[in-house]
Amino acid sequence: MTYKIMAIEELAPKTKMFEVSAPHIAAKVEPGQFVIVILSEEGERIPLTICDYDKEKGTVSFAFHEVGKTTKELGKLQVGDVLANLTGPLGNPSEIKNYGKVLCVGGSVMIAPLLLQVKAMKEAGNNVTTILGARIQDGLLMREKAKSLSDKVYLATDDGSFGYKGLDFLVEILKNEKFDRCVVMGPVVMMKEVSEITKPYAIPTIVTATPIMIDGMGMCGVCRVTVSGKMLFGCVDGPEFDGHKVDFDELVQRQRLFLPEERVSSLLWEKNIGGCKCGRHKA
Ligand SMILES: Cc1cc2nc3c(=O)[nH]c(=O)nc-3n(C[C@H](O)[C@H](O)[C@H](O)COP(=O)(O)OP(=O)(O)OC[C@H]3O[C@@H](n4cnc5c(N)ncnc54)[C@H](O)[C@@H]3O)c2cc1C
Ligand code: FES
Repeated sequence: MTYKIMAIEELAPKTKMFEVSAPHIAAKVEPGQFVIVILSEEGERIPLTICDYDKEKGTVSFAFHEVGKTTKELGKLQVGDVLANLTGPLGNPSEIKNYGKVLCVGGSVMIAPLLLQVKAMKEAGNNVTTILGARIQDGLLMREKAKSLSDKVYLATDDGSFGYKGLDFLVEILKNEKFDRCVVMGPVVMMKEVSEITKPYAIPTIVTATPIMIDGMGMCGVCRVTVSGKMLFGCVDGPEFDGHKVDFDELVQRQRLFLPEERVSSLLWEKNIGGCKCGRHKA
C-alpha cells in the first residue's frame, strides 16, 4: 500500500491539511474516527482525526498543527511524498442521528474534523449552530466552510481581538436557546470549559479525548482516560466520551507526562533539520 500525499492545503500558519491516498481506510471510515500516521520507518506513531474522505477517489484527509518533532517533520512534506504507514480507521465513529438542535464547538486545528461532524449532523436533519474558537484570528480555520454547512456560526478568540472574547457568550446563548446535543473538539481546556457551561442545562455533551497514544488498538494502555471514575482507553472506548463525566484535569496531566523529552526531541530535530533520511521523501 502506498500512502501518497495527493494534496496539501495550508489552513493557517503551521497548520496544514493533507489528502492522502488510502483506499482501504476511505472505504470504511466514518466521522469521529482517527488514523495513526507513521512518517518514516524510524518515526513515531501519531494519532490524527480524519477531517474528510472521498470513498470514490480512495483518499482520507487530516489536519495537523505543528507542535512537536513529528508534526513539524510532517509539515515539511510535499505533494507526491509518501508516508511510511497509515493505520485506520481507528476509534468508534460518532453517534450521528436526528437529535433536533445541535451545538458544535471546535477549537484551533480540531475545527477541521469538527466540520465533518457538522456536515454529518446537518445531513441527519439537525439544525446546527457552530462555534469556532481559537487563541487568535488566524486560528479560526475554515470559516467559510463552517458558514456553508451550519445554520448559524459564532466566532470567538481568547482575547476578543476577533469575534467574541472567550466563551462567556455561550452562557447567554444557552439562556435563550435550547439544544439537544453538544459536540466539542478542541484543546482539553476548551472541552472542559464547554462541558462545565452545558452541564447546568443538561445538554448531552460529547468531547473527543486526545490522550497520548501508541498502538491505538487497546494493547499498550497508554491512552487511559478516567470517565465517571472508571478507567477507559481513549483508542478503543473512545475517542468520544461524555464531557460531563471526563476527568479533564487528569487528561491534561497525562498529556504533559513527557513534555521535557518532547521539547528535547523537537530541538534536536530542528538543529538537524534536513528532513527524514529514509529516502522516501524529498530533501
Ligand atoms: C485521538 C486523537 C486525535 C487527534 N487528532 C488530532 C488532529 O486532528 N490534529 C492535530 O493537530 N492533533 C491531533 N491530535 C494530537 C496529535 O496526535 C499530537 O499533536 C501529536 O501526536 C504531537 O506529536 P509531535 O511529535 O509533533 O509533538 P510532541 O513532541 O509529541 O508534543 C508536542 C506538544 O504537543 C502536546 N501533545 C502531544 N500529544 C498530544 C495529544 N495527544 N493531544 C494534545 N497535545 C498533545 C505535548 O504535550 C507537547 O506540548 C490527536 C490526538 C489524539 C489522541
Ligand atoms: S493507544 Fe494503546 S491502548 Fe490505546
